[in-house]
Order: sequence, then structure tokens, then C-alpha cells
Amino acid sequence: MKRRTFLQTTAAMAFAPGTLLAASNPARTLTIAPTQVQLAPAGYPKTAVWTYDGAIPGVPLRFTQGDRLSIRAQNDLPQPTSIHWHGLRLPNAMDGVSGLTQQAIAPGQQFDYEFDLPDAGTYWYHAHNMSPEQVGRGLHGPLIIAETQVPDVDSEDILVLDDWLLDAQAVIDPDFTAMHDLSHGGRVGNFVTTNGQYDLRIPVKRHARLRLRLINAANARIFPLALQGLEGWIVALDGMPLATPEKIAAEFVIAPAQRVDLIVDVTADDGSDAFLVRLSQDGSAAQVTFPVRGQMTATARAAPVALPPNPQPEGFDLANARPVDLPIAGGAMGQLQQAQHDGKTISFQQMIDAGLFWSMAGSAGRPADPLVDVSLGETVRLTIRNDTMFPHAMHLHGMHFHELDAGGTLGALRDTTLIGGRETRDIAFVAANPGDWLLHCHMLGHAASGMMHWLRVS
Ligand code: C2O
Ligand code: CU
Repeated sequence: MKRRTFLQTTAAMAFAPGTLLAASNPARTLTIAPTQVQLAPAGYPKTAVWTYDGAIPGVPLRFTQGDRLSIRAQNDLPQPTSIHWHGLRLPNAMDGVSGLTQQAIAPGQQFDYEFDLPDAGTYWYHAHNMSPEQVGRGLHGPLIIAETQVPDVDSEDILVLDDWLLDAQAVIDPDFTAMHDLSHGGRVGNFVTTNGQYDLRIPVKRHARLRLRLINAANARIFPLALQGLEGWIVALDGMPLATPEKIAAEFVIAPAQRVDLIVDVTADDGSDAFLVRLSQDGSAAQVTFPVRGQMTATARAAPVALPPNPQPEGFDLANARPVDLPIAGGAMGQLQQAQHDGKTISFQQMIDAGLFWSMAGSAGRPADPLVDVSLGETVRLTIRNDTMFPHAMHLHGMHFHELDAGGTLGALRDTTLIGGRETRDIAFVAANPGDWLLHCHMLGHAASGMMHWLRVS
């Protein structure tokens, strides 16, 4: 499997510039199909999953900044699907949102995706049709865009964090719309994996410098994490480099759909283990174990430097930004009375009967009209007011935004922001990409039960 992945990746890179190939002749095919994998520990049966090219997580797609992605999606699932390229700035028609930017790809059919890759960073791709089920059954994979000048590290690992809701026979719970999950924190699994393994071990040497590309592909789980035997810096969030690497003092959090790029130095002694630790109320667990065997160098290195910044759109103007209000309401204990749905006002009881629990700006489910229609190049300041008891990971397609802190200071660039229960967060961005862009909660059950809106840039 490793070898096949390597060969495919090499082939994709060789053709990636795409100058010789028309859109009708994509550089590679990605096959979307059911298969069986050993997810649970040895001794348990295999688990039926849905995959990209047979792998859990999907095959890593690797490019270099400035390349052109050219992929034919072949749908061999029993359901229509589409692929969203999460966090990428791409043409709207390539965004992969079924029902908004394209028709879902019917079983047996193909769809060709082709677009340029202006930014380096850690991204991912995933199904964007019937997402709670399709992503929950395994349809997601890493999309890595290397800098043209790679940072000075000894090795690099992609770490896809995920969880699964399995029964005692390692079968995925098929009820992706359980009312309690939808109305509370979303579908949280009982079996946590990294790269499809519950006990991932990566051998390292003392004083080695690693780049770790963390991707949270879980439907709803927020991962609070810490390092043990590793000294680390956050160098990028959601693919976008930080101006200054941020030393990890204690825990850090990665919400659904978010990515965190770390540079870590192995400080644990030769012969011991270092860990990426998953924190929880009932103690902590090893998310990834790094057995330390041997020594890379005699001494530790100097602190890492920042990654080269990605190109930014012109014209960011916070002082003259267009203010847009986005209240979020509903869920258990949320006291929502009613919402707009399909052009009518419906009561909360009618919402529940329709499997809806949440509203964004008064609408349950994606309405016909956008939240706002902004002009290309305008700066938008979105005030997201979470009037619910639950945290939400709000994701904007097609553009990166700055988080603002309570005092209005500009924070990191992101594509997904975690907003705690009853918290308000402002985000600001230049509407630099024309099209219809989804704005939704990335707790996928929340999105499917109402937390889905969109905005138009024209
Ligand atoms: Cu990662 Cu609308 O999705
Ligand atoms: Cu949510």
C-alpha cells in the first residue's frame, strides 16, 4: 500500500503542472469506493469503510506551491458524492459543494477537478454530499502543498486525527442522524485513531526536528492536545503560516476541520517514549507514541524560523469593513422558538420533526438567499454570536479570514474558527474570491441539522 501510494503520488507530481494536459485528460483518477480495513485492534473483525483509493485516511495528495491540481473523481459508491478541497482558494465551480457549486456525482459517474494551488500548507479533501455519513465512513484525506523552499527539518509526518462510532463487532454505527447527537455536541466516536491506527507509533531520534501536520478529520470531536518529551512550536494554522512560531507552553486545541502545523524537537531520552497526548476529563491518552531510539545530534537546535508567508489578497481594510451580523441559535437547552425554512416560518417543534435543531441568522438549513452579497474586493467583518450552549467550528469556504480578539486585535488567518458556547467572535476578510461560498459549522451533524448558510461575492 505504501509503495503504491508513493508511485501514484510521484505520477501526480510529474503531471501536476498540467500545461500539456487539457481538462478532459486529468493527471490522475481518485477512486471513491467501499472497502474493508482493520481499524479495531487485531482479533476484531475488519470494518466496512468508504475510501479514496482504498486507504484510510484517503491517499495523501501532494503538490508544490504553484502547481495545478488535476484530478478525476470516480464515484464507485452506492451514493452520489462530491469532493470539497478544504481550505483552498480555488474557483467557485471547483469547490465541490453538491447542490451549490456542482451536482453530486452519481454512482458510476466522474467529475474532473482542475485548479491552481496558490498557497502552500496543510489542507485536506473530503466528501461534501451527505457529509455526516460520507466523512464519517472515511471519505477524507490529506492535501499537502509544499513550500518551494522547504523548512529545515529531519522528517515530516501527516497526522490525521479521527474518531469512529463502532459497535462491539467493529461495525460503524449507521445512524448518522441520531437526534441526541445532532441537538448536542454532534457525533462523537468511541474509537480514536491517527492515520487510521489506534496505536500509531513513529520511531524518532533524540534531538531530531520533526514537522507534524495535524488534521482533525473527525465529525465533531474537539481534540485538546499536549506534548510530552517534545519541545514544539506552532508554525501554521489551517495551512497559513504564523508570522512568528508560537512556542507550545501547555495544551493546544484542534477543532473539527482545523489544521495545526508543528515543528517539534525530540527532547526525551534515548530509549524512552515521547508522546502527542490527548487530554480529556478522564485523564490523558497517547494519541501518537514516538519511541526514541538513538540520537540525531549531540545538542538541541536553535528555535525554528517562520514559514514563508502565503500571498495575501490586496485591499484588506478593517476600518472600513462591511459589518455583518451572524447570530447562531438552537440546540438542546437553546430555547429557540422558530426559524425560517424553505421560505416559511416554522416552530421549533416543526424543526425537530424535520430533523433541524439549529439556525444561522434565523434560517434553519441553507436558505435561497445569501447572508450577504458583497462586492469583490470589499472587506467584511462578520460578528458570529453563538447563542447556543455548544461550541461550533465555523468554516468559510473559498477565503481565509483573520480571527479578531475581544479587543479587536487582528489574529491568525484561519478557515475554521472554534467558538465556545455563548461566545461571540469577529472574523474579517477581503472578499477576494468571486462566487457562492458556504459558511457552516464543521460539526457535520450540526451542519446537516440547520447550521448551513452562504455568502455571495460578485
Ligand atoms: Cu470542510 Cu463545507 O467543508
Ligand atoms: Cu456546530
